Amino acid sequence: MTAPKKLFIKTYGCQMNVYDSERMAEAMGGRGYVETDRPDDADMILLNTCHIREKAAEKVYSELGRYKGLKAEKPDLKIGVAGCVAQAEGEEIMRRQPLVDLVVGPQSYHRLPELEAKARAGEKALDTDFPEEDKFDHLKARPKAKRAPAAFLTVQEGCDKFCAFCVVPYTRGAEVSRPAARVLAEARDLVERGVREVTLLGQNVNAYHGHEGGLAGLIRELAKVDGLDRIRYTTSHPNDMDDALIAAHGDVAELMPYLHLPVQSGSDRILKRMNRSHTAESYLRLIERIRAARPDIVMSGDFIVGFPEETDADFEATMALVEAVRYGYAYSFKYSARPGTPAAERPMVDAAVADDRLQRLQALITRHQREIQQEMVGREVSVLVEREGRVPGQMLGKSEYLHAVHIEASTAAIGDIARAKVVDSKSNSLGARHL
Ligand code: 5AD
Ligand code: SF4
Repeated sequence: MTAPKKLFIKTYGCQMNVYDSERMAEAMGGRGYVETDRPDDADMILLNTCHIREKAAEKVYSELGRYKGLKAEKPDLKIGVAGCVAQAEGEEIMRRQPLVDLVVGPQSYHRLPELEAKARAGEKALDTDFPEEDKFDHLKARPKAKRAPAAFLTVQEGCDKFCAFCVVPYTRGAEVSRPAARVLAEARDLVERGVREVTLLGQNVNAYHGHEGGLAGLIRELAKVDGLDRIRYTTSHPNDMDDALIAAHGDVAELMPYLHLPVQSGSDRILKRMNRSHTAESYLRLIERIRAARPDIVMSGDFIVGFPEETDADFEATMALVEAVRYGYAYSFKYSARPGTPAAERPMVDAAVADDRLQRLQALITRHQREIQQEMVGREVSVLVEREGRVPGQMLGKSEYLHAVHIEASTAAIGDIARAKVVDSKSNSLGARHL
């Protein structure tokens, strides 16, 4: 018997890439590959890339540069680039970095085994099509191995919103939903393998239309799956937050009280230029309705500072919106001009000004995050235990609000949902006592 070949995958960017990497590793199992966590041990290296900000793409090129020595030592080593950088600049990658053998865009992963065979035969292989077929149907079924208790499940890909700063509509293509029956089958299979929590993924997951009742309909079906105790979804768009989905937050016990709902800016002038088609006020009203359905929900969001032509007054409007919402978590980014997007044509804000705004916004977000964690002290939470801590008897997991929790002197096992009382709040986690 020949020894299995080894595959090293490095994943950048969003959770959808994490999911895709898992599925690609499974598909390459069919070509005799097992995964390794060491690039120097690998017969194939695959970078699953992100193109959302400039730095993300630059990191890919510098990572590729690092493999030069390895490739010189091991001429049979194949190097592939997948993900959104592959989609956006596949041909340029091959030109700029000759050690790349294979380029595969996010909609073509089911063709990866063929592409690898082509690369093994000494040819350069590139596929960045947007084929009609569902890539997940053609990827080999997930093998029946035991899984960690929390898993991602991609239900929707692509985006039709065309925010003026964003490359996603170009790299991931138009919105496509997987049919509910397929999602349910995959969820049941995950549950059989020990999964109790799924996070439904999509670039615009609440635009899901693979079920006649939309995402809310899918969530209600999933909630009926025995053994599937927790459901989350990300990332959503304010304009697709319909009444049915808001109602689900109120009455589906399995739907966890945490919602990532990016707004990007608190200034209507900037929102308009961003092509967001909602206002700060409509977003705040929407959150009021969500909180009416589920008062304890923890909100999360994304912000861009230094969008072209953002003034001090625009930025102050963002700070005011953050004050009004009080996010449990929020991610903020300095605007990065992405070639091919409309905003890239507009005049940039001075870099030092943008840096200063980013710092101020992040300080405010961190203050709210800590305050909200502190408010959890004394409350009871349910923790899905995901792994053992460093201290004997310590177990780590996530609360329903997605806070990282460590339970001391716990008798809980991995996969248990433990009731615990929060006793303290550290910078990025909560300490709790098992009840
Ligand atoms: N520059 C900075 N941040 C961006 N994002 C998307 N495109 C850009 C860009 N060009 C941010 C948005 C989005 C998150 C995933 O990344 O806030 O919600
Ligand atoms: Fe990008 Fe806007 Fe679509 Fe989100 S909604 S993926 S930010 S274009």
